[in-house]
Amino acid sequence: MTLIEAMHTRHSVRSYTNRDIEPEKQQALQALIDRCNSEGNMHIQLVTNNPEAFESRMARYGKFRGVRNFLAIVGKRGSNLDERAGYYGERLVLEAQRLGLNTCWVGLTYSKRKAAVTIESDEKLVCLIVVGYGVNAGVPHKVKLQNEVSKVKNIDFVPVWFTNGVNAALLAPTALNQQKFKFTLLDGNKVHASASLGYFTKVDLGIVKLHFELGVGDEKFEWV
Ligand SMILES: Cc1cc2nc3c(=O)[nH]c(=O)nc-3n(C[C@H](O)[C@H](O)[C@H](O)COP(=O)(O)O)c2cc1C
Repeated sequence: MTLIEAMHTRHSVRSYTNRDIEPEKQQALQALIDRCNSEGNMHIQLVTNNPEAFESRMARYGKFRGVRNFLAIVGKRGSNLDERAGYYGERLVLEAQRLGLNTCWVGLTYSKRKAAVTIESDEKLVCLIVVGYGVNAGVPHKVKLQNEVSKVKNIDFVPVWFTNGVNAALLAPTALNQQKFKFTLLDGNKVHASASLGYFTKVDLGIVKLHFELGVGDEKFEWV
């Protein structure tokens, strides 16, 4: 399965079976976690067999069932931590999908106190991503229109690569499915991505930037 195919088949799943994640799949995830941590200055951790983090009243309110495993998206505090968390967390979400696993980003509805995560004094736990074998595969989310999330300086010419990038971003998970992002195509293959104010919109921005890059593929463009 390619990463593009993974984007199409991925949907948030909140109910999980008790099937364990096989050691070879855990190793594959860990190898990518190691790469993301060194490239993005992150401290992402795969936590297995920690159901306590999802047994609080808060987690039940969040409709999570049978969660035992998750990725803890931890990183060094800094101005762009939320965006990095989104970018690298989503790379792991897509890898999990390729491995036949299901996922869901979780911003609030879990117990921080009961999550078996190591957080150094200069670090912050941004989010969790639950991972495992879902009871089902989830359902596609409602998507905004291209022109609600993108702008082009010259409307007479919209390059295919830009449209592909925006379409890939529209498949991405965002908190509350808010899709509060905007891609603007400027002169000379320069693209500006922004997020408006809201719940976890900076994390969403990192997620949709990864999707945009993957959707564009080999075409050269520059983030500004
Ligand atoms: C940063 C972030 C935080 C999220 N937090 C929660 C959460 O606390 N509880 C929850 O049930 N879903 C949460 N979600 C999942 C979104 O509701 C979901 O991604 C969105 O509705 C789109 O659906 P899809 O993922 O199936 O495409 C979160 C998603 C993101 C990206």
